[in-house]
Parts: sequence; structure tokens; C-alpha cells
Amino acid sequence: MAVISFTFLIIIFLIFLIVRLKPWLVNYFKLLKNYGPVPCPRNRLPILGNLLSLPLDPHQFSLKLDQFYEESKTTALYCLWIGTYPLVAFFHPVGLEDFFSGSKHITKSPDYLFLHPWLRTGLLTSTGAKWKNRRRIITPAFHDKELLNNFVDIYNEQSAVLVQRLASLKSEKEVNLYPYIASCALDIICEAAMGLNIGAQHDRNSQYVDAVLKLTDILLKRQRMPWLWPDLIFKILPQGRAHDRYLKIVHQFTKKVIDDRAQAFHADEIRQKRSAFLDLLLKQMHDEQLTLVDIQEEVDTFMFEGHDTTAAAINFTCFMIASHPEVQQKLHDEVDRVFGNDHDRSSTTEDLNELNYLECVIKETLRLFPSVPFIAREVQEDFTYNDYKILRGSTAVLFIYYIHRDPKHFPDPERFDPDRFLPENSHDRAAYAFVPFSAGSRNCIGQRFALLEEKAMLSSILRRFKLKTAQKRDELNLSFEIILRSEHGAFVQVEPRF
Ligand code: HEM
Repeated sequence: MAVISFTFLIIIFLIFLIVRLKPWLVNYFKLLKNYGPVPCPRNRLPILGNLLSLPLDPHQFSLKLDQFYEESKTTALYCLWIGTYPLVAFFHPVGLEDFFSGSKHITKSPDYLFLHPWLRTGLLTSTGAKWKNRRRIITPAFHDKELLNNFVDIYNEQSAVLVQRLASLKSEKEVNLYPYIASCALDIICEAAMGLNIGAQHDRNSQYVDAVLKLTDILLKRQRMPWLWPDLIFKILPQGRAHDRYLKIVHQFTKKVIDDRAQAFHADEIRQKRSAFLDLLLKQMHDEQLTLVDIQEEVDTFMFEGHDTTAAAINFTCFMIASHPEVQQKLHDEVDRVFGNDHDRSSTTEDLNELNYLECVIKETLRLFPSVPFIAREVQEDFTYNDYKILRGSTAVLFIYYIHRDPKHFPDPERFDPDRFLPENSHDRAAYAFVPFSAGSRNCIGQRFALLEEKAMLSSILRRFKLKTAQKRDELNLSFEIILRSEHGAFVQVEPRF
């Protein structure tokens, strides 16, 4: 009797399991049938997919991606199975109009959910009507003349501190410039976004700066460690507890800055101060029905999106300049022509706009080392790509890093050649062959800000220093994280020119 009831229980349990799992299984088989013909890494396993063949180490992972890129060349499409979840990988620029034009595929993939506790649904992570409305409200800030001039003043002040710090380095030694550049970029975005000088470059031991850096680091680690993905597990592990601790510090800090600034704004005290991006939002608060929480999610978004991206770009540019003396000579000639003999005067927007060759160098570096190496979208409706059907609800990953290496648009793609971006060489290039700031309606809202910041910081360095390096490019050991990094750093020697 006991055996019968036990068997009966097992059967009931199995039926329950099948009923519960049925939708999931049906979906899994549908995905397998659809994406089965798309090339994917060898040794794909049922349920586990390619998980076992994807290295956790970020540098090893990027080497694996090189291999997948090679394998994708005949079909232009590739599929990575993260368990039962297919990531449809786009490595080539062909046919990307579907993603970038119009507003069909503007929804970010579930991978961005890790950012929600920090950024909530600010501009980077929101979608639909909320995103459209915010984009409309925020866009004018990046075209406001007064604000842009204020930003140039901030670039100048912080670049002057950076140059002083670099001057105190031993000039015969190669150093990893990244921490110097990153703290300068952090000071710039703090002041531009919140109107606050937090002195990251002066090592003022700011709890906020420390928390931003640690939080970014935890997010990058979580992204590449699948066992940290479920919230339930993450929250009880030390990384999850640290994440919540830092998050509290960051949110408390931005909330206080916004509250104080809002009070000063209403008391009309802000007029005497240099206005920041936050003031523009405060100004629009009433008309656009924004709450202080809405404003905070945008300020947090700018803090996240606006410092590591530019720092990575400037860091790789310094390395490429140091590795190409002939390019550096042309840059020295250009800055000397624009700024003359006065090595200390601040740059104006007009000066920065005149640095055309520097802009080519920055773009060529962003081509080879895009700060954001890939982006991901949730496909909003079925479409056909190279005879393959891409299903609604799938995650499409656009590998900007590889899209930039198409020999049709960039012959001998690994060669560093800033002349590719001279107007005569780039005017008829395909629209989506070079997309470091993404493209279309969901492109980077801060790209003008970033380019001017890069020019200001790099020209300040070039006016005073000569950069050298003995490190080879293949020793950079690139790591594909949310931001592209060099595993052990790019080492550069900073030698005074005069
Ligand atoms: C070299 C520097 C930068 C690079 C390469 C870069 C690149 C990108 C890319 C590729 C995206 C699209 C992300 C996606 O679709 O998931 C993006 C979006 C965004 N970026 Fe940047 N970015 C840079 C600097 C900045 C700066 C300085 C700011 C702010 C001042 C900023 C603010 C944003 C925001 C708010 C978005 C989301 C826009 C939206 O979805 O409407 N970025 N950026």
C-alpha cells in the first residue's frame, strides 16, 4: 500500500513538473528549431548550451570571441547559447539598419537589469514612452551654449590638475596612466552633472568616489559570473552585501546633492554658481512634471555612463599615441599651431574644434578600442537577417568591437591609421561601419561632451609631454567587460617636452 502511494506521489509530482515546465520547454524547443542552423560554438550541450566552453576570465573570453568572429564570417550571424537562452550575435556591419534606424528595437536586453538598482530606469535603462519623454527633456542640455561653455571650463580646470600630477611622475618610468585619467574624468562628470567638485584627483578620500568605483567593479564582475545573476543568491553573498552598502552611499550622496541644489535653486542662489546639468533638470522640473527621484535617476545615469567610457577612450588613445611616434609628431605640430607658445592658457571651444587631426586619432582609437565593446537589445518583432529568422523576444548582441574591423570598410583593419577619418577618406563610408557611440535614436547622448572632453584632456597632455611606450599592442590583453579594458593596464612614459 505504502509503495503504491509513493509511486502515486511521484507520478503526481512529475505531472506537476511537466505542466509547470511545459511553456518553458515549448519555448526552448522553438528556439532550438529556429536558431539550430545558425553557427554556434562546437560542443553545445542540451540545457547547458555553450556555458562550459565560455571562459569566465574576461581576457580568455575575448580571445574566444575572436575565434567566434572568425567562424561567423560566412554567415555574418552567430549564436551563443547561455544555457537555454540564445544570444544572437552580430559581428558585421551588414544589415544593421534594422537595429539602428527607426525606433523598433530600442528596448535593452534583460542583461541591463543588473544596472537597475543603481540607475533605476534612467535614460540608459528605460524604454518606450518613458525613454522617449526623458530623451526629449535631456537632449537640449547637450546643445545649451552656456552649459557647454561651462563644461569646457571644467575640462580645463581638471586637465590642469591632471597635467600637474603627471609632471610629478618620474619621467623615465612607464606607468599605468589609467587611475590618473579615470579620477580626472570622474571629477569632470561630477562637476558637470551635479555642479560639485569632489576632488577625486586630490585624493580627498571621498566615500562617494570610492563607492562609485567599487560599485562599477562589482557590476562588471557580476556580469561575467552567472552564479551571481539570481538576486536571491547575489544578495546573501559578500559581493551582494557590498553592492547594497555602496549603493546606499551613492544614492544618499546624490540625493543630498540634489536636495541641496533644489533648495538653493528655489532660493535663487544658484545664479552666482556655475550651472550644471542638474540645474537644467531642476529648471524643467515644474513644466515637465519631474520628481526629485526622476532627476536622481538621470544624475546617477550620467555618473555611471559618463566617466569610465571617456577614461577608457583617453587611456587607449595615450597608448596608441605613445606607440606611434610619427602620429605623435603630427599631433605636437597641431597643438603647437593652435595654442602657440603659451603652454598654460586654457583652451576654448574654438581651439578644440580646430584640433582636426587629434579628432582623427581619437576616432581611430575608438574604432580599434571602442569603450563600449558591445550592446544588447531585446528584439521587438520578428525579422529576417541573411535568410535567418530572428525571433521577437530574442536578445541581439551587437559586437561594436568586431563591427569596426570589417576589411570592406577598413582595409587592413588592425592597422592604426588615423587618416582613415580624414573627410576625404570617410565621407562615403557605410553609415553603420563605425558606431562607437551606437547609432540611431538610441545613440549616446553624451558623444559631443565626450569628444570635447577627450580633446581637452589629450591636448593638455600633448602640449606639455611626449609619450613613449615599449609595451606591444598584443600585450594589452583586452578584456570584454561593460567597458573595454586592458587586463594589466597600458603602460606609458610621460616625458616633459620643454
Ligand atoms: C568615449 C566616451 C563614450 C562612449 C564610447 C559612449 C558610448 C555609448 C554607447 C555605445 C551607448 C549605447 C549604449 C547601449 O545601447 O546600451 C551610450 C549611451 C549613453 N551614453 Fe554614452 N558613451 C560615452 C560617453 C558618455 C558621456 C560622457 C555621457 C554623459 C555625459 C554619456 C551618456 C550616455 C547616456 C545617458 C546613454 C543612454 C542614451 C539613451 O539610451 O538614450 N556617454 N554611450
